[in-house]
Order: sequence, then structure tokens, then C-alpha cells
Amino acid sequence: MKDSLFPYRGLMLDSARHFIPVEEIKRLIKAAEICGMNRLHWHLTDDQGWRIEIRKYPKLAETGSVRGRSFFGGVSETENNDGFYTQEEIREIVRSAGEAGMEVIPEIEIPGHAGALLSAYPEYGCRGAAVREYAVEKGGGIFPNLICAGKESSVRFLEDILDEVMELFPCRMIHLGGDEALKLRWRRCPDCQRKIAAKGLKDEDNLQRDLILEIGEYLAARGREAVVWNDVLNGGTLPPHFIVQQWTGGEDRTRQFMKDGGRVICSDLRAYYFDYPYGSIDIRKIWQYPRIPDWAEGYENQLLGLECPLWSERITDTDTASFLLFPRLAAAGLKARGEMPWPDFLEEIRKTQQRIQQLGLRCAPEEMWDMAEAEAAADRQADHDRMYAPEAQPYMLRTQRLVLLEKTERLMRQIGIPEAFLLQAGDRILAEADGKTKNENDRGAEKLILQLMDAVCSRESGPWKPVPEKIWLDTMKCFPRFIAEHRRSFGTDGFDRYGWTVRQTECRLFRIGELEYELLEESGKRAVSLHIPSDARLEPDLLNDSVRQAKEFLGRYFPEWKKQPMICESWLLSPKLKALLPPESRILRFQDAFDLTEEDPDDMAALEWVFYVPERLQASVRTESLPETTSLQRKMKALLLAGEKPGGARGILSRAFR
Ligand code: ACM
Ligand code: ZN
Repeated sequence: MKDSLFPYRGLMLDSARHFIPVEEIKRLIKAAEICGMNRLHWHLTDDQGWRIEIRKYPKLAETGSVRGRSFFGGVSETENNDGFYTQEEIREIVRSAGEAGMEVIPEIEIPGHAGALLSAYPEYGCRGAAVREYAVEKGGGIFPNLICAGKESSVRFLEDILDEVMELFPCRMIHLGGDEALKLRWRRCPDCQRKIAAKGLKDEDNLQRDLILEIGEYLAARGREAVVWNDVLNGGTLPPHFIVQQWTGGEDRTRQFMKDGGRVICSDLRAYYFDYPYGSIDIRKIWQYPRIPDWAEGYENQLLGLECPLWSERITDTDTASFLLFPRLAAAGLKARGEMPWPDFLEEIRKTQQRIQQLGLRCAPEEMWDMAEAEAAADRQADHDRMYAPEAQPYMLRTQRLVLLEKTERLMRQIGIPEAFLLQAGDRILAEADGKTKNENDRGAEKLILQLMDAVCSRESGPWKPVPEKIWLDTMKCFPRFIAEHRRSFGTDGFDRYGWTVRQTECRLFRIGELEYELLEESGKRAVSLHIPSDARLEPDLLNDSVRQAKEFLGRYFPEWKKQPMICESWLLSPKLKALLPPESRILRFQDAFDLTEEDPDDMAALEWVFYVPERLQASVRTESLPETTSLQRKMKALLLAGEKPGGARGILSRAFR
């Protein structure tokens, strides 16, 4: 056996989703110790239950621990889910765990997974005590309600809770959670926004980090160390007195945290999440998983060890819990000691399994330790079916929708959608998730967000997935451009070009440099249609660059279009412009690159681009009142007053721009 024993070898039990009676906790602790574990991370608070008595705030346990009939992924129950641990019971568990060589580390979730907390003390939520819909949640998933980070009273409240927690738990580490905190409410909360502005914070992720930093320093001043899920690093790195628990994504940030001196516990969900079925993680998977993951290479001394969470959404009894835990926990215990050959690993596990079974705990049979792919797939499917059972499905779908909304609001920020319109758009989806009615006139906000949600899905797993980030973002910037054009025409933010933008969201129209390129295909005939966005700079070098890059892009991602003609249909190609513009004008030089194929002398599109009169107002506009600020406006207005139309044309791009 090589390598040295990890100092931190943890099991995480989730008493929040389903309450675990004291005697059962003790039994599982004993078994964990047999597996070589030395820490119990005790998840005591979540959306679906608050399980720890806090004397200063009695409603936390009284209200927050009562859920009644509920349904988590395929498991219907009315009992066994209410309950909390009194302070005496907690001391007793800590003491008896200590005798078994296990230290107990409590987790108080901040700021997300706060449904049960807010059901008892809604005044610490962003929307305050007036909001009635805070509840101990009855289904699984992720919920949008967070503890408000903008209210000073929230911080004092959390510190009070932690004072009592520190009294109960003598361990050095205290877990502050920090995972899966959707920022939907914080974006809409005047208190949170005020704090972001006052402290010069970057955004809501940075606000989460700031809150955790404040609480973590409170603990540090009392000789404790805060542990947080790796999500917290999304808002910026943390000082090295924090410990990060790496469970999913963000490995680069975790590595950077280690580089800055931070210590990390590995709970990679691909190896150590034991609520996942054996079909996803069997004994061989655990054996194969690198003891030192690549993100920790070079910082082995700061990798404290590993921890195996057992989330309990679908676990209502000890029998199920122990079946999922054992012997996987024994496998994790062996990993924590070092690498060893597979046959030796199996032999060790067989021995440990026998000892666990002697405690009367059910274990997974050896057939499930190294599953064939077909069996594994069936096991995963059964788990998926439980998670999406009819009564559970609405919760899962709601979570998916909210997570997608969160990603979409982030994209909207990134591409520069005006904040108020962004929030208005997101409100449409939030209202739907909250089961509220929506007001009627939204100036296209809902169309905007629905299209962008589709685009985000496409970027994650659809046709947008392989496209380079810059082209993706530049293309999506058509949305703020159209909102700005709406403002210019109507004086308010709005979005009325949704018929046009399905091409962008469906990955058929791309912004590359100054121009947009649309893939056309009709009766087997392909062409690339050029569009000239209103913010395009018609400078020959930039235009030639754009065409060159577009050809490269098409060759790589849409090779069938690479050699197709580039066509353009625009008012900018109208031959009538020759009489309205000086010969050296950029527009006329733009025209020179095209061979015209067809004229449309009656086209009026120029009204929108020259005078900012949108199509739907063109019928009613009075020509006399059109602006005359630019020379083109003056000349085109004269042409209109003479009863003529600006026209347009189609052409084929035939030569370089000069
Ligand atoms: C987590 O699994 N939400 C940490
Ligand atoms: Zn707030």
C-alpha cells in the first residue's frame, strides 16, 4: 500500500430531507467508523426541514421541522419526516460519536436551501415577513428563496444561530453550505442591491462570497474554521482559513484556491455521492477514481481527504440508507488509505462488509460491486423513474425551469440587456413558477426570455454547443441591439423582433465581425444571406475580415455552406442611393462589392434605418415631420416628398470591399 492516510475521511448524513432518529444516527456512525471514517458531516438544515433546536429562535425547529405529507422522487410518506434534535440529543450524539473516533461537523446552510428557515422567520428573506409563500418545501429540487444578504439583521441572526451551534459542537470545522443558491431573488431585492452598490461588489455571486466571508470571519475569531461547498468560489476566492468541499464543476477555481493556500475536501459527485444508484457509482468506479484528482495535483498536502454525502431526498429509512452506503463507504475508506490492486481491494471490502452486517445493517450484494453496463443502465433508469415519478415530476420540472432561468438571466447580463427589462423578462418565468398570473402588456419581455432560454439550452446541449464563445455572444448581442432600437423608436425598452431572432436562437444566423450570416436552404438549394446590423461599421478592412472569418467558420462548422454564394437583400444596395450620397460614401463603396440581381424600387425599409421609423409606424408617418439631421436624411426626405421611394435591391457578393 502506497500513499498516506487522508486526515479527513467523512460521511455526510442529510437529516433535513428525511429525519433520522437518534439511535439510527448512532448505528450509522458506528458502521462508518468500521469503514475507516473519522468525520460525520451532519446536514441539519434545508428547504425541506430544519432539524436543530436553537433556543434563541424556537420557531426554527418548531415550525421548520414539520412538513407533513410529502413526496420525494417516488417515495410517498406522511410520517418519519417531522422532527428535530434537541440540544441534549445533539450533545449525546456528539459524545457517542467521539467515543467511536468520529468528530461531528454540523452544517447550517447559507444562503440557499433556506425554505424551512424562512417558513419560521420570513423576515430574513429578501421579501420580508409580508410574504406568505415561504414554506417548508414538500418536494425535491432547488428553490429560489435565499436568506437576504442585504439586511444587517440577517447577519446577526445567523451569528446568533452559530453561537449556539458552536456551543453544541466542539469540532473546529463548521459547515456553512453555500451550494445551489440561485440569485433570482437577490437580483430583485433592494436591500441586496443596495449592499452590492455600497460595498462596490461585482455581482450577486460576489455578494454571496462577501456574506460567507463575514460569517466565516466571525467563526475564525472564535477559533473555528468555515467549510463551504465549492459553489461559493464562483463569487471570488476565499482566504485560506476556509475549507472548500469540491463536489461539482469549478475545478479551476478550486485549484486556484489551493494555490492561494486553501484546503479542500473532495466529494466529487462522480465517485462519492452515495445517494446515486450503484448503476452510476459501483465499487469499481470508486476504486478507479483518482485518489488525488487532477485539480489537486501539486497541492496534495492541502487535500484534506474525501467525504461521501448521502442526500436523503429518496431515502426514508435506515434500510435504504445502509444499502446505499455499504459497502461503498468501505471502498471510500480504503481510498483514503491509499491505492491497492483490485483483488486486494475486493478482499478488504468483503471483510468490512461482514462487520457491517453484524450490526444488522443491510449492504449491497457483491453482484452490484462491479456492474455490467446493461444492469447498470437498468439501475440508473429505476432511480431516474423514482426521481421523476408523477407526484415528484412537477418539482423536478420547476427546478429545471428555475435553473434555466438563472442561467438565462446571467446570459442577459453578459450580453447587456438593460437590467430593468431583464428583471421584467425573468419575472414572467418566476411568476409562472410561483403559480401567479402575469400582467398583459409586457412589451415583448416574455418572448425575449423564452427565446433566450431556448438559446441557453441549445448552447448547453443543442446546435450552439460547439460554436466558439465569441460568435455565440456576439450573435446573442442582437437582443440588446433590438431593445435599444425599440427604445430609439418608441421611447421605451421593448422587444418586437422575435420573428427575426428565432434564426439566431436556432443557430442559423451568426454575427461574425461586422456582418451577420444566415444559412439559407430552400428545396435543396443553399446560400448564405448577409445581413447588415444597425451597428455595423462599413469599413472595407473590417468587412473583408468579417467575410474571411465567416468563410473559415462555415468551413469548420457548416461545410455545406462554405462554397455557396453570399447574397444580400437590403435598402443599402438600392441604386437610388447613388443620387443621395457623395461618391466616396461608405455605403456606395459597400455596394461596389456586389453584383445586383434584382431591384425592388418600392422598398421602404430605409425609413427605419435612416429615420428610425419602425415598420409598423411607417403607414402613419407624415413625411413632412421626418428629421433632417444628416445629409442623407435631408436628401432622402426630399425624394420622399417628391413621391418617390428609397427602394432596395438584391445582390451577390462578388469582390472584396474596397
Ligand atoms: C450538493 O450536492 N448540493 C452540495
Ligand atoms: Zn435581499
